[in-house]
Amino acid sequence: MHVAVIGAGVIGLSTALCIHEQYHGTVRPLRIQVYADKFSPLTTSDGAAGLWQPYLYDNGNTQETKWNKETFDYMVKFAHSEEAEEMGLFLQSGYNIFKEPAPEPSWKDIVLGFRHLTPKELELFPGYSSGWFNTALMIEGKSYLPWLTKRLVERGVEFVHKRIECFEELAAQGADVIINCTGMRSGDLQADSELKPGRGQILKVSAPWMKHFVVTHDLKTGIYTTPYIIPGSQLVTLGGIYQLGNWSEADNSKDHHWIWENCCKLIPGLKKAKIVHEWSGLRPVRSKVRLEREPFGAGHMKSELIHNYGHGGFGLTIHWGCAMEAAKIFGQIVEEKKLRRIPRSSL
Ligand code: FAD
Ligand code: BEZ
Repeated sequence: MHVAVIGAGVIGLSTALCIHEQYHGTVRPLRIQVYADKFSPLTTSDGAAGLWQPYLYDNGNTQETKWNKETFDYMVKFAHSEEAEEMGLFLQSGYNIFKEPAPEPSWKDIVLGFRHLTPKELELFPGYSSGWFNTALMIEGKSYLPWLTKRLVERGVEFVHKRIECFEELAAQGADVIINCTGMRSGDLQADSELKPGRGQILKVSAPWMKHFVVTHDLKTGIYTTPYIIPGSQLVTLGGIYQLGNWSEADNSKDHHWIWENCCKLIPGLKKAKIVHEWSGLRPVRSKVRLEREPFGAGHMKSELIHNYGHGGFGLTIHWGCAMEAAKIFGQIVEEKKLRRIPRSSL
């Protein structure tokens, strides 16, 4: 079996690893190649803050809640292991705050120690009237992607630095299964009117006194651009820009000022923080993740495509659950191919 994964962000690397972990030894030979035109530290997954936190409400999309939970439950087991530091993984506690009453989120029983804020805690955030405290995880792409890459190299997975122009290119090279993990640029390979950029911009500041995340929400207007502060292993991420339909990956000075003003208003102590760098990236936004198979090509160019993209602002949060689902679909394809190979005489 020759598998070609397109994409070396968190989705492509984790999908390749999950398939290798589950099928090497049973599917023989198993050749996995990861194709990408950008590798760590240049992917969107590297720029993300790295907080494990899904959108507040799943609106009935229980499939994604399941994948989020599978990811949390899998990753939390590494949190106290000696590998955690190299993985960019650690437990992180903090606040979600609101100016209005908020129904409890779909993920309240996934995270650790979810509870409502006390009046005394709310005094820390003037202008906010309700909120929650919980412990979640940080999964920092800048460490996690190299860690995944190392695991893949140890397993003999091959890496090819190349921009793929079309799926046929890989089918022509003999790929039996092509896995599309191209994030926001999936539309270049196959039109998808549902996929839209959710532009984000963040500032990385040095503020070692910030120990908890603070994520604000505005349920009344439904505006997604709201300030957040997320301490990482070295620096604190300040953000909150979310511009649907904006394709610009350039830093914008108006957004820079908005982030700085609003985060400093939220936590005035941040005025003393030094800005170390800035980054802008595109969340691959869809109404739901596209994770499905699609038969592809014909005759000797016949392959199978598995799509795994459209993880919006929660790619790190959901990645392992999605990788396991992609691996399950891969297993079904393997079984079907085996059946097709049984000679008619033995049926
Ligand atoms: P990417 O990381 O973009 O990787 C795509 C890969 O595909 C790259 O390797 C690219 O080179 C390759 N590729 C694309 N097209 C081709 C082609 N034609 N040929 C070859 N290679 C190709 N999520 C969280 O869970 N927690 C957070 O705290 C968080 N914070 C965020 C903050 C911001 C400001 C932004 C913008 C996003 C944030 N996200 C967060 C969302 C997260 O970054 C994304 O969901 C995630 O990175 C998507 O991963 P991916 O692997 O699909 O895409
Ligand atoms: C985001 O900017 O997309 C984001 C921020 C915090 C947690 C999850 C996602």
